[in-house]
Amino acid sequence: MCGIVGYVGNRRAAPLLLGALKKLEYRGYDSAGIALLTDEIAVKKCTGSVSGLSGALQMAGTCGIGHTRWATHGAPSEQNAHPHVWKRFAVVHNGIIENYKTLRAECEQRGETFYSETDSEVIAHLLEFYFQGDLIAALQRVCSRLSGSYALAVICTKCPGTVALARMRSPLVVGVGGGVWCASDMPAIAAKNRTYYTLADGEFALLSARAVFYDGEGRVIQKKPAACDAEDCIPVKKGYRHYMRKEIGETASVLENRSRMLRAWTSPAVRQALGEARRLSFVACGTAYHACLAAKCAFEALARVPCSVTVASEYRYADPILEKGELVIAVSQSGETADTIAAAELAKQRGAGVLAVVNVTDSTLAGMADHVLSVGAGREIAVAATKSFNAQLMLLYSLAATLAEAKGKRGYGDLLKELPSLASQTVSVGEGVRAWVAYFMSASSVYFIGRGADHVAALEGSLKLKEITYIPSEGYPAGELKHGTLALVEQGTPVVAVLTSERLAQKTMNAVHEVYARGARVFLVTSLAEQARSKELTGAVVIPECGEIFSPMLSVIPLQLLAYYVSVARGINPDRPRNLAKSVTVE
Ligand code: G6P
Repeated sequence: MCGIVGYVGNRRAAPLLLGALKKLEYRGYDSAGIALLTDEIAVKKCTGSVSGLSGALQMAGTCGIGHTRWATHGAPSEQNAHPHVWKRFAVVHNGIIENYKTLRAECEQRGETFYSETDSEVIAHLLEFYFQGDLIAALQRVCSRLSGSYALAVICTKCPGTVALARMRSPLVVGVGGGVWCASDMPAIAAKNRTYYTLADGEFALLSARAVFYDGEGRVIQKKPAACDAEDCIPVKKGYRHYMRKEIGETASVLENRSRMLRAWTSPAVRQALGEARRLSFVACGTAYHACLAAKCAFEALARVPCSVTVASEYRYADPILEKGELVIAVSQSGETADTIAAAELAKQRGAGVLAVVNVTDSTLAGMADHVLSVGAGREIAVAATKSFNAQLMLLYSLAATLAEAKGKRGYGDLLKELPSLASQTVSVGEGVRAWVAYFMSASSVYFIGRGADHVAALEGSLKLKEITYIPSEGYPAGELKHGTLALVEQGTPVVAVLTSERLAQKTMNAVHEVYARGARVFLVTSLAEQARSKELTGAVVIPECGEIFSPMLSVIPLQLLAYYVSVARGINPDRPRNLAKSVTVE
C-alpha cells in the first residue's frame, strides 16, 4: 500500500510534495518522507502522518519524490520510511516486492549495507548496480528482476531535474501543467488546466520539462490523456467535521443520480452477459464483500440465479471450480484492491467473463474486466466505506431487478426508485443512535445480529464499528448466536439487532429475548414499528419500510452513524482509523 508523489518544475518542490502527500494519506499514514534532488539527494522522514514533515518545508530543490506509508514489511519506523536511498539513487515504492529477500541477499553479498527492513530498499541498490547513464534502461533492467507489484518514482544525482517512473499492478498517474507531477491517485495532483495520463502495467516514464512515456521495451509511446474532473477530485468537507459524516449524508443524492441512470447501466452487452449467465460468482473484500452478500440475496430471490460470494483473497488460492456460463462479478470501490484484481484475473484465465463493479472507472480492475459498471458514488475520502456501499447495492439491486424483469417478474424497478428518498429519511431518523453512544463507549465487545438480508446489514454494521472505534465486534446470524457466541454476552454487553423482515420477526426477537435474559443491553434497528416497543430494548430506531430484500440499503445507515458517533466520542478520527487504509493495493 502507500501513496507516492513526484514533482519536477520551477517552483520549490518541498511544499508541493507535502501538499500532494496529504491528499494521499487515505492510502496509509504510518510514516512519511520526501527526497529532494539538487547536486545531491536530501531526505526528510518522520513516523506518523505527513504533518510531521513540516520541518521539511524549507528544503531546497525543484525536483523531488515523496511517500506516505502503510507498513507491510517492517514496523512503521523512521528507518523503514521511504524514500530509500543508496548512493546516487532515492526511490519511493507502493506495492510489494515478493522476491526481495533473494535480491537483498545478492546485494549484501556484494558488500552493500541495508538500513531498513523493507522490501523496497533493494530497488535503490539494484538501480545503483545496473545504472550506466540511462535512467530508463536501468529502471527497466531492475523491474525485470522484480516479482510482485510496484509503482516507483526514482531520482538520481546523475540525472538532474528528472523523476523516473515504473508501474506494475499499483496505480500511477502523471499530471502535466504547472510542472510535471506524478502520484498514486489523481486527487493528490488535481488542479485546473492540467493534463493527466495513466501509466499502464509495464510502462515507464521520465518526467522533466515534459513527460515522456515508454513501453516495456523502452520505446517512446504516445499516450492519450485521461479524464479528470478536477472539481470532483479536490476533497472538501462542506462544513462537516469529518468526511465520513459528510459521505453518509450524501447517500440519498448518490442514489438519486444512480436511479436516474438506471437504464444506462444495463447496456446490451451487460444485459446479454447477465441474461446468459447460469451462475454468478461474486468476489470482493471488506465492505464490497458485504455488498456482494446483499446482492446474492437479491439475485437469488428476484431472478432465481444461483450465486456464490467469496472473499477475493480466499478465491484466488481456493482453486475455484468455474462452471460453463459462469459470470464473475468483481466489486470494488477503488478498483485497485490487489486481492480483488488477482481473483478477477484468475477467473479470466479460466475462461469466465468478468464484470467489474467499481466506483473509480479508470482503475486497474475496470481496465482488465470484460464489462464495467460504475456505481457513481463520487469520491469517497473516509477510509471506512459508507455511501459507496449503498451505491454498490443500488447498482447490484438494479441488475437483479432487470434480470427479474427479463424473466417476467415486474415491479421491483418502482421500489428502487423510492430508495433515494427513503435513504434521506433514514439518515434523519438514524441520528437517533446518538442517544445510544454512552452504552458503547467503554464496551469490551459488541454483537450485531440479524437473519437473511438483516444479517448482511449486521455484518457491515459490525465492520464499521470495529474499523473506526477499535471495539471488538462481531456480526452474527441471529439464530447462530446460541451455538457459541452467546457465551460471550455479559451484563451490559451491547447487542444491536437488525429486523426488517415481517417473516423473520419472531425468530429474530427470540434472539433478542435470549441475549436480554443474559444481561445484554439490546438496541434495535427495524422497519417494524411494533417491535420497537419491546420493553427489553434500551434503544430503537425505526427506519422506513422498503421490503426485505432491499432492506440493507436503509438498515445499514443507522449502523454507519452509530460507528461514526462512537468513534468521535472515543476521541478517534473516524476518517483515518489506525492500521487501515482506503485502498489496499497489496495482497
Ligand atoms: C479496505 C478498506 C475498506 C474496503 C476494502 C475493499 O480494507 O479499508 O473500507 O471495503 O478495502 O476496498 P475496495 O476498494 O475494493 O472496495
